[in-house]
Amino acid sequence: MDFSDMKRYVDDRPQDGVFRVHRDVFSDQALFELEQRHIFERTWCFLGLESQIARTRDFLTNWIGRTPILVTRNDDGAIVGLINVCRHKAVLLRHEEAGNAGVHICPYHGWSFDANGHNVHVKNTRTACYPAAFDAESHDLLRLPRTASYRGFIFGSLSAEVPELGDFLGDMRFFIDLIADQGPQGIELVPGRAVYTYNANWKLQLDNGVDPYHLTSTHASFLDVQAVRRKGEGNVESRSFDWRKRDEFPAGAMNFRNGHSAVWMRQPEPEKRPIAPAMDEIRARVGEQRAEWMLNARNLQIFPNMQIADAISPMLRTFRPLAVDRTEMRAWCLAPIGEPRALRAWRLRQYEDFFNPGGMATPDDTVIYEDAQRGMAASPLDFLQGYSRGLGAAVSGGGEAGAALGLDPATSVEGRYDMFNEVAFHGPYREWARLMEAGLSGRRAWA
Ligand code: FES
Ligand SMILES: [Fe+2]
Repeated sequence: MDFSDMKRYVDDRPQDGVFRVHRDVFSDQALFELEQRHIFERTWCFLGLESQIARTRDFLTNWIGRTPILVTRNDDGAIVGLINVCRHKAVLLRHEEAGNAGVHICPYHGWSFDANGHNVHVKNTRTACYPAAFDAESHDLLRLPRTASYRGFIFGSLSAEVPELGDFLGDMRFFIDLIADQGPQGIELVPGRAVYTYNANWKLQLDNGVDPYHLTSTHASFLDVQAVRRKGEGNVESRSFDWRKRDEFPAGAMNFRNGHSAVWMRQPEPEKRPIAPAMDEIRARVGEQRAEWMLNARNLQIFPNMQIADAISPMLRTFRPLAVDRTEMRAWCLAPIGEPRALRAWRLRQYEDFFNPGGMATPDDTVIYEDAQRGMAASPLDFLQGYSRGLGAAVSGGGEAGAALGLDPATSVEGRYDMFNEVAFHGPYREWARLMEAGLSGRRAWA
């Protein structure tokens, strides 16, 4: 197949009021392979939080596309990004998602590496008759070409050519700050996480994370349960929101450069947010405007592999494409470090209700993804029509909200919440097409 023209896949013509994505983007095996190479292996990917590796010799593992990654904190306290693969025969070095170890011992032949990835032991060297050429080679773990963090969020890149992390995130940093600043000592992942897979393409989750349009239809049963609880029945501890109050409230979306986007909404019930009792402290620390935006609902897409949803209590999810039609998700609850017990319980009740695979919303979404994947196989279908809501009101730049916040997104839209805009999908697919085009034509992806 000829992949040279990405317009065949992302039909992006704002001047004509057109933004469409072709079903092949979700279902074509060859495109999936190209995505691994030209997207996941050529941009920054989220790896974890610094608070997960707070002590020296702590480590966490993750993946960039198909590449296993080991992130450690060395004895100097520095964060080190490594390829989690033994140099001897490519066996995965660490299986655990996190832990603490001064030495990482390969389970196959016992080669060992320290927290810097330096090879500290090759088993049975005395009797090995290794040639001089072998001794001259480094046996250290391969370093991730780039590792950096922003406000405690660690990212890595398999390409050395990426821009500085701060430039890559751009004005998306404002929205990350609104998460990182929720506690005076920063934020952490609540211990425990959910891992689950679904049989559909990773971009079904990419879209869904910034899709306000589906809530009232896909999650109707969740809304019904919440309505019952608000009458004082069932689990009243979960401080259920009245989602229908949101319809007329101001809302919008912003698309930032490099594929990041955000949807936001003014919060009609800020008193139900688990940070509400801490707002005096937060206002004093971050100022009135940022504090108000912390109470607003915000769902973030950090392209390509991380989302933060902060519309109920905040959750962080990462996705790992396993195959064109199979994706692994990991999801955590985010919370301020040192949060009082009662507020942590409030947060967890809201989180588990909606987000966990055993909650009342995530299973709805994953079933829909799998149905969509089946639908993508319908050969007469070409372009999907799910990218146009709000496009008629979209503008270049940041609009009123962007001006008020001093942000400069590439495009944005504002209106009532029940516009249920689909504009926040545009940034990610523009970046998808840009990176694919650059990779396929052999051009550098970054200036
Ligand atoms: S594969 Fe690691 S020691 Fe042999
Ligand atoms: Fe959903």
